[in-house]
Amino acid sequence: MSFVANLVSPIDGATYPADEPHTTHRERPLLVQYDLERVGRALDGADFTTRPSNMWRYRELLPDIPRESGIVSLGEGMTPMLQADALGSRLKINHLFIKDESQQPTGSFKSRGMSVAVTMARAFGTRRVALPSAGNAGGALAAYAARAGLEAYIFMPADTPPANIFEAQLAGASVFLVDGLITDCARIVREGVDRLNWFDMSTMREPYRVEGKKTMGLEIAEQFGWSLPNVIVFPTGGGTGIIGMWKAFLELTQLGLIDEDELPRLVAVQSDGCCPLVRAFEAGKPYAEPFPNPKTIARGLRVPSSIGDVLTLNALRQSDGVAVAVEEGRIREWMTDVARHEGISMGPEGATCLGAVEYLRKERWIGRNEVVVMFNCAAAQKTAGFPDSDNTPAVLLDKDHVDWDRITGSVTDNPPQGLE
Ligand SMILES: Cc1ncc(COP(=O)(O)O)c(C=O)c1O
Repeated sequence: MSFVANLVSPIDGATYPADEPHTTHRERPLLVQYDLERVGRALDGADFTTRPSNMWRYRELLPDIPRESGIVSLGEGMTPMLQADALGSRLKINHLFIKDESQQPTGSFKSRGMSVAVTMARAFGTRRVALPSAGNAGGALAAYAARAGLEAYIFMPADTPPANIFEAQLAGASVFLVDGLITDCARIVREGVDRLNWFDMSTMREPYRVEGKKTMGLEIAEQFGWSLPNVIVFPTGGGTGIIGMWKAFLELTQLGLIDEDELPRLVAVQSDGCCPLVRAFEAGKPYAEPFPNPKTIARGLRVPSSIGDVLTLNALRQSDGVAVAVEEGRIREWMTDVARHEGISMGPEGATCLGAVEYLRKERWIGRNEVVVMFNCAAAQKTAGFPDSDNTPAVLLDKDHVDWDRITGSVTDNPPQGLE
């Protein structure tokens, strides 16, 4: 049974049929619109907890998948909501959580969007998909395309972390490195649509990746017992995370599963080395100007312009949220803080959330007793060894003449009582 009504342009309300592939409308994104009355009737008495523990448990709020083609899944979704008490007590926040997307099948939240988008591409008979990527989306597309039996063409900036290039090549994608930014990669992908007849899977240029990201919002609601935290903090580049979660919350309120006055304040975090959305938010503008000369080690946030800007800014404003730029030079420190205090392998993008929470708590924008969720969008090890990483090399020991001075030199604490 289909619950999808059509595709709709949030700019002017134009609609398109959902049973054929579409990309953008007036160069802006299209979103999937559901018949929420029918969804409501189908969900009446539904118990999600009896369904498989992955994001497809919300199938009534996901696109209709033809039985013949089936879902392309690697078990994505239902990532843990981890309490971050050590960081919380340092920041004087009593209820701090990290939604840990590093535990996704491809090590990042991009698994969600690609599962839905590749499923739909295959259902529409697409054989060849292409993508500009900062890294994680490329790795995810390669994996899901391999599983679906599709050809994948991925264009990444030349200084993309090696792990992302490796994972995409391993899964059989054709990977090209471009001496430029993700926007240059996007131009090549657009040119190839006519030349090579591939389907453009770029952020917000097809309507289904956002539907996958939407499940992060649905999961948060379920994980908090069908209520929502006060504040959600998300590292933002192209904006699909913020747009998808806000769409989830609006659908849940329309379904009566969440109260309107329970909606969270959304926080988009960017590095001060690339913060087009923060500038637009602060200037009260409806869209963002391209950010000149963007520089950040958080490659997923090095997005100088995005066609999702209007929707992202709308979601922030409607939710009474805010866009925050944090200091580029402190991202490593925040990564280390999260790993050492909580044991969570936080990528540079997610680490910016800690900087934002620190700042917003100091400003009293976040209260001590509020429930705050930060996102870890990808595992830190996906960025290991990349060009601007500043990891200290580990000490190399000679196995036959172990240099104990080097080992004892690294001991900082007194040994625990009783072990001497
Ligand atoms: C790890 C990570 N975090 C955050 C983002 C930005 O997400 P969005 O495009 O949904 O704003 C990306 C995008 O590449 C990413 O890879």
